[in-house]
Amino acid sequence: MQKENNTMSRRQFLAVSGAIAGSTIIDPKSQAYAATSPTLKTNNAKQKIALVGTGIRGISTWGRDVIRDYSDHVDFVGLCDNNPGRLEMGKNYIGASCPTYADFDAMMKETKPDSLIVTTVDNTHDYFIKRGMELGANIICEKPMAIDETKIQTIIDAEKRTGKSCRVTFNYRYSPHRAKMWEILRSGEIGDLTSIDFHWYLDTSHGASYFRRWHRLVEKGGSLWVHKASHHFDLLNWWIESDPESVYALGDLEFYGKNGPFRAENCRNCPHTKQCDFYWDIMKNDTYKKLYVDNEKYDGYLRDGCVFRNDVNIFDKMAATIKYMNGVQVSYSLTAYSPYEGYRIAFNGTKGRMDAWVQESNPTTDGNYDEIVVAKNFGKRQYIQIPHASGHGGGDKLLRDQIFIPNTADPLKQTAGVRDGSLACLVGIAARKSIASKEPVMIKDLTTIVPQTEKVYSRI
Ligand SMILES: NC(=O)c1ccc[n+]([C@@H]2O[C@H](COP(=O)([O-])OP(=O)(O)OC[C@H]3O[C@@H](n4cnc5c(N)ncnc54)[C@H](O)[C@@H]3O)[C@@H](O)[C@H]2O)c1
Repeated sequence: MQKENNTMSRRQFLAVSGAIAGSTIIDPKSQAYAATSPTLKTNNAKQKIALVGTGIRGISTWGRDVIRDYSDHVDFVGLCDNNPGRLEMGKNYIGASCPTYADFDAMMKETKPDSLIVTTVDNTHDYFIKRGMELGANIICEKPMAIDETKIQTIIDAEKRTGKSCRVTFNYRYSPHRAKMWEILRSGEIGDLTSIDFHWYLDTSHGASYFRRWHRLVEKGGSLWVHKASHHFDLLNWWIESDPESVYALGDLEFYGKNGPFRAENCRNCPHTKQCDFYWDIMKNDTYKKLYVDNEKYDGYLRDGCVFRNDVNIFDKMAATIKYMNGVQVSYSLTAYSPYEGYRIAFNGTKGRMDAWVQESNPTTDGNYDEIVVAKNFGKRQYIQIPHASGHGGGDKLLRDQIFIPNTADPLKQTAGVRDGSLACLVGIAARKSIASKEPVMIKDLTTIVPQTEKVYSRI
């Protein structure tokens, strides 16, 4: 395989004066904000959009909310899903008046969209990205971009061959709390970054739901190393501003799946509901009932699957040591059965340290904010409070603004393309391989991407 030739490497630090004095993110009207323009269409014509995958993410964040907020800028021209019932329910939920298609190629050829939104099951993303590009569209794809290195290479090659782009929707970069951390790192307040401690906790409600759904199968979602942790690895790649070099990992399945005391196929058909802490009645959620239960007859998919099914084949505890090209080293872990959901992170630098502890469920504080603590090695501590916002910490809305409102700039370099989408997944894929081989895995050995000391930013 021909390795990438990287002449684009650059480091453009923003002048973020007094970045940590308050909780304000850069003013959208400032000069820095006006410096770049990554949107797909900059003239006054509306963007024609098609969407494949009318599951919950497709119909809400990328369907109903887009029609509600961006109808001046976009028109839906087609919707596609291989479950006809979910497709019909999805169309009604979104409130779109466009045609629906079971046949993806027919949708692309008849409707000729400018952009294709891909919100299908993870192991199909590569097919729709490649085929969508070949049929003339730029792509907006949910994370993870792809679940293994062969699929990633297919996308890298398709982008090169077709000249089309693929934006990967890393909404986690857009939460104001995490954006503030990026600004503080760029301000030099903690000196040169040397290492990061990053520990993520999934709880026994939302976290457990990964073990109910298709996500429980490595062949569908690439395991939580890719499906979930690619969010976290993308944050690391963006915060550190360097590419990952090597990964050494451990992992096991010790709680869900075969470890459970009893099991059934799904909660509705279970004789153990009274004893089971994980019993969940999907019929109490009308949207889920209409989207999933009513359409089981088409594909047999059980949205309320038992978390203790014997076929669960992903890890529920994971740890990795990641080395970056610029020397930064990361200690990362993910635990999937915690009493609360959230994370702890600490950035260690030559002049001090930045800490954050976020509890996304069952928070212990009653404050309506997330905090960042910046402690100097020889100086005072600062406590910076960022107000909470809904939709992945406010990230979903800011991400959509940037995609759908023409000429929205990108001062914090939050736009992610194929290279960023690939590297986020490759860390998780390397972790899976490292567990299997009991050896560290080099990122450069996986695809044609050549890891760089200074991050190469995506232009869409
Ligand atoms: N960024 C985030 O915070 C976030 C949050 C949730 C989901 N997601 C991502 O969104 C995507 C969808 O997740 P979801 O929770 O909506 O799942 P879901 O199971 O509700 O929806 C997936 C849909 O894809 C359809 N589908 C599967 N294979 C298909 C094929 N070959 N052709 C056409 N349709 C097909 C299914 O029928 C289903 O309707 C996933 O990639 C997931 O990782 C991202």
